[in-house]
Amino acid sequence: MKVIILGIDGYIGFPLALRLMDNGIDVYGADNFYTRKRVKEVKSKSAIRINSMDERINKLNNKIKFFKGDVSNPKFVYDLIKDIKPDAIVHLAEQRSAPYSMISLKTANETLEKNIKSTMNIIYAVKDLKKDIHIVKLGSMGEYGTPNIDIPEGSFNVNYNNRSDNLIFPRMGQSWYHLSKVFDTYNLILANKIWNLNVSDVMQGVVYGSRTEEINKYSLPTRFDIDEVYGTVLNRFIAESVMDDPLTVYGEGNQKRTFLSLEDSIYCLNLILNNPPDHEYKVYNQFDEYYSLNYLASKVKEYADEIFNKNVKIDHLKDPRIESENHYYNPINENLKKIGYKRQRSLDDEIPLMLNDLNNNKKRLLSLRNAIKPKTLWK
Ligand SMILES: NC(=O)c1ccc[n+]([C@@H]2O[C@H](COP(=O)([O-])OP(=O)(O)OC[C@H]3O[C@@H](n4cnc5c(N)ncnc54)[C@H](O)[C@@H]3O)[C@@H](O)[C@H]2O)c1
Repeated sequence: MKVIILGIDGYIGFPLALRLMDNGIDVYGADNFYTRKRVKEVKSKSAIRINSMDERINKLNNKIKFFKGDVSNPKFVYDLIKDIKPDAIVHLAEQRSAPYSMISLKTANETLEKNIKSTMNIIYAVKDLKKDIHIVKLGSMGEYGTPNIDIPEGSFNVNYNNRSDNLIFPRMGQSWYHLSKVFDTYNLILANKIWNLNVSDVMQGVVYGSRTEEINKYSLPTRFDIDEVYGTVLNRFIAESVMDDPLTVYGEGNQKRTFLSLEDSIYCLNLILNNPPDHEYKVYNQFDEYYSLNYLASKVKEYADEIFNKNVKIDHLKDPRIESENHYYNPINENLKKIGYKRQRSLDDEIPLMLNDLNNNKKRLLSLRNAIKPKTLWK
């Protein structure tokens, strides 16, 4: 099998490339180093030192073929797909920070334009060049928002005025970033409807962790962002505990979100690649569990106190986001289980590993301290 990973230099893209390569798949990847550049602009960097793409490829004896380019450029995407004619494309190459999308009109437009264009470039190139390519597109569980009813996988049955239909479940994303993913979803649904493209649309929860089997095997770490713009919540709590700073819970901390480990994310994407849809548009709610922010903070405190003999404090900051701090939350994740998903790594497996990895990078981490406190406000 030939697979192109768009966004191969990223947190998920690089460990996915290692896994696929080890599974005997021909791996091709593209990236324009957008995340490295944007993280630098907010005066941060990966808290764990990562190699350049050249160093990564050299260490892997050139087994992965890399192409530098911008996925929002239609010609780049068309030529790449035309030359490689892959069986599948995993599309990770989007602006992926909700806070970044909320900084200004410029960053909102950049997020919407780049993300929507990049998915459209893939749709059109696949339609024109090889319609049976399996498009695996990374969306977000945040597309759904936090409705006061259960969240199904993609669509649900509606009865209204004595008539019924199966309709796409309402998407109520709470940032321009999430709304860019909602547009991608609608565009992929239409592409499937008119051209029968094979689409797996992955509504992914928040990913945490610093390791996978292959990161260990090749000693090639993946990026680990902890700043207020690019860092995700659990990774940020880990960093704060290692720096002896209070954990910064936004608002009351009763906000619930879905989560999965990096190892589980890679495992799920592998399962999805091995189960291509038959000219269908298929949705996967890709997560392991859902937790409140307060629960995550208490877990990090428990392990940091025990491992490093600390007494970690937990602070509640005024929530910089506009979101419900107390809400119902019950998302369903059946489709991955149907193709064989079982949890690989739990929160309790990963938190001690992350604490150790960041503790080994403590000096680097301390130089990023100013980048953590939230400055990006939704209002
Ligand atoms: N990490 C999470 O918790 C999480 C959760 C839900 C969804 N996702 C989605 O998964 C995907 C991957 O996330 P990640 O955490 O690995 O992010 P990341 O930023 O680490 O990786 C994305 C990669 O894509 C590249 N990229 C971005 N725009 C590009 C463009 N126009 N052309 C070429 N390359 C481009 C970046 O340089 C980066 O290497 C994203 O689409 C993100 O929205 C991530």
